[in-house]
Amino acid sequence: MYQLRLAARSASPIGRSRNRRPDIKDMKFYVRTYGCQMNVADSNEIGRHLKAKGLVETQDPQDASIYLVNTCTVRQHAEDRAFSEIGRLGRWKAKRPGRKVVVSGCAAERTKEYLEDRFPFIDLVVGAKSIENFNEIAGRLLDRRATDEDLDYAVPAVNEKVAAFVTSMRGCNYSCTYCIVPYVRGREIYHSIDQILAEVRDRVSEGAREITLLGQTVNSYRHGQHRFADLLRAVAGIDGVERIRFISPHPYYMTDRVIETMATVPQVCESLHLPVQSGSNTMLKSMMRNYTREHYIALAGKMRQAVPDMTLSTDIIVGFPGETEEDFRQTLSLVEELQFDWGFVFKYSAREGTPAAELECLPQQLIEERHQRCLELVDRIALKKRLDLVGTIQDVLIEELGVGRTRTNYKVHVRREAQARQGAASINEAQARAERKPARSASPIGRSLKRRAQPQEKAAASSNIIHGDQVRVRITNAQRATLEGEVYNGNLAFENFREEDCRAGTCPDRQ
Ligand code: 5AD
Ligand code: SF4
Repeated sequence: MYQLRLAARSASPIGRSRNRRPDIKDMKFYVRTYGCQMNVADSNEIGRHLKAKGLVETQDPQDASIYLVNTCTVRQHAEDRAFSEIGRLGRWKAKRPGRKVVVSGCAAERTKEYLEDRFPFIDLVVGAKSIENFNEIAGRLLDRRATDEDLDYAVPAVNEKVAAFVTSMRGCNYSCTYCIVPYVRGREIYHSIDQILAEVRDRVSEGAREITLLGQTVNSYRHGQHRFADLLRAVAGIDGVERIRFISPHPYYMTDRVIETMATVPQVCESLHLPVQSGSNTMLKSMMRNYTREHYIALAGKMRQAVPDMTLSTDIIVGFPGETEEDFRQTLSLVEELQFDWGFVFKYSAREGTPAAELECLPQQLIEERHQRCLELVDRIALKKRLDLVGTIQDVLIEELGVGRTRTNYKVHVRREAQARQGAASINEAQARAERKPARSASPIGRSLKRRAQPQEKAAASSNIIHGDQVRVRITNAQRATLEGEVYNGNLAFENFREEDCRAGTCPDRQ
């Protein structure tokens, strides 16, 4: 039967042999990820396990035999969204024989029994603590006797991610009183430097040029004698790694050695996401954050002094139980004072089992109102910061067609063709601004570091920008969340861009 059905399959897609025997290689899986980068990394890891078994990833759920929902539970909203997607999978599964539904991640860890009870069609639940054992757990998923072969054909995609995540630690030893993470991900476990470097090499061999190290408190890393600064330097020593980022650090572990490493190792990008959560010492204490407002402000100042071009972004929670108007204003004033380049503002969400869930919640309307006020302030500053970049020249690493990131972690939509325009402002001004950027010295410590790869100066009109290219881009416009720019060939003398036009929303690039 198996053989017969395959032999009858005549419309052979490109790259597939008509007479090929059916095997596990052709099963497809679809992954839906909720939550943070840690979850994205976990999804990638699960994907790699499945690919190692010969499965192929698809972007189309209708094409898949396995549908994986990687869930988040950090706020109620994230959990609700994942559960409503899972609810719809009963019908997806019923459409074809042999389809499998897998639910993984933090909500899966927290609510395993509930999930199995409410959605009996789920084939496998893998909690966040078990992701690393996915391979063993998932064995029975791959029994393809029951699958519908019609679904199971695909040309394997080459994994060529330019920017890759590498998990350096799992879990969290903190006990921030609002946070469910330590309950669903457990205590900290650190991967050895060798293991991390091996993974970095794998990602580089697949095409990665930027590595983001991941952990809940990524900079608390310790393994044997090694600390986080050593890890950064070791990753920088791997051939082919041009950019290094890390997320999310905890202010407590932002040590002088880490700061110095950021300042001196060229591969480490000038960008720091440092969650502050609140600007009120009363709230920080009640959240058990282990630092004060003053400590955070001093740290931010030190960082900016050491890495002058650095972007600083943050997470803020508004409406934590007991937050008074005065506490909230302290948060607003901290945002004003530190002028974050961007920030994520979250409405407090009570998570069952956490200490804060025992406290009396503020009225939802008040939380909404504070959320709005804080968001407006954060976004206003962020837009101003982006507008300040208009006219500057930035190194952009292209991640997908026409879209890349600056070292400072701004997303930039890059236009392939720069049109030479005649007009008022000289680009020399932009160049002068860009050149004001102080040169960063190579690390004086340890082994010699590779010189940072210089962006290719591409001839704008003829360039064909593909992922992996590093190009010089002249920023032409700023959106709420992204920048726009065009390849800068270094020869343009004049253009008609005027900053005030962009501020007024009448920038020629927008028309
Ligand atoms: N309610 C609201 N926001 C939360 N975060 C974590 N737990 C909660 C919660 N219970 C936010 C924090 C953290 C980010 C990942 O999510 O700001 O830094
Ligand atoms: Fe949660 Fe705090 Fe750990 Fe971050 S440091 S994961 S907020 S407990």
